[in-house]
Amino acid sequence: MIIAIDGPAAAGKGTLALRLADHYRLNHLDTGLLYRAIGRIMADRGLDLDDPVAAGAVARTLDPADLGHADLRGREAGELASRVAVHPEVRSALVAFQRDFARRAPGAVLDGRDIGTAICPDAEVKIFVTASPEVRARRRTDELRAKGRNVDYERILAEIRERDARDSGRSSAPLKQAPDAAVLDTSALDIDSAFEAAIAIVEAKR
Ligand code: C5P
Repeated sequence: MIIAIDGPAAAGKGTLALRLADHYRLNHLDTGLLYRAIGRIMADRGLDLDDPVAAGAVARTLDPADLGHADLRGREAGELASRVAVHPEVRSALVAFQRDFARRAPGAVLDGRDIGTAICPDAEVKIFVTASPEVRARRRTDELRAKGRNVDYERILAEIRERDARDSGRSSAPLKQAPDAAVLDTSALDIDSAFEAAIAIVEAKR
């Protein structure tokens, strides 16, 4: 079984993907990490993020060991990721790795932006996880404050809106709901309720 989970930043897809993978004993790939690693490597090497040739070269030589990089989860890496993710050269270099991962036994949960539309269009289960920008910004702000960071809600909201616009507006594999995806709006749900709703979607499809 392949479960494809797509949606905008901070909608809860990462947590849901991990819990679904654990529940169904499937492999899990957070595909955002691939783009984050490429953005991070380019920034560390002083390369121009907007240069498709340089970005494509980094993507083609990406080593899975690079995914262990310490600061890939933060906001800055997310920002770098969405800038390199616009290049078709980058996206095409990552297709084979993601598809091979998905095909490996016993199956996998992949989360990202284009899993149901471009990477695994034949996935048995597709879930588009979303929430209002305000709810996502509130969650992200609370998460960062819980870690002791002094962050401003309005600024986080602006970053989320900017990332949504870039991810949805790019011409190469933009963020969009696959026609056969079930929509899971987590705006009014806590993580346990969202997980139950996701299980119900999976059970209805398999
Ligand atoms: O999901 P995450 O926040 O880690 O993704 C970081 C960025 O990487 C996204 O904003 C998006 O631009 C890009 N990305 C993508 N396709 C994916 C996963 C992530 O374009 N499958």
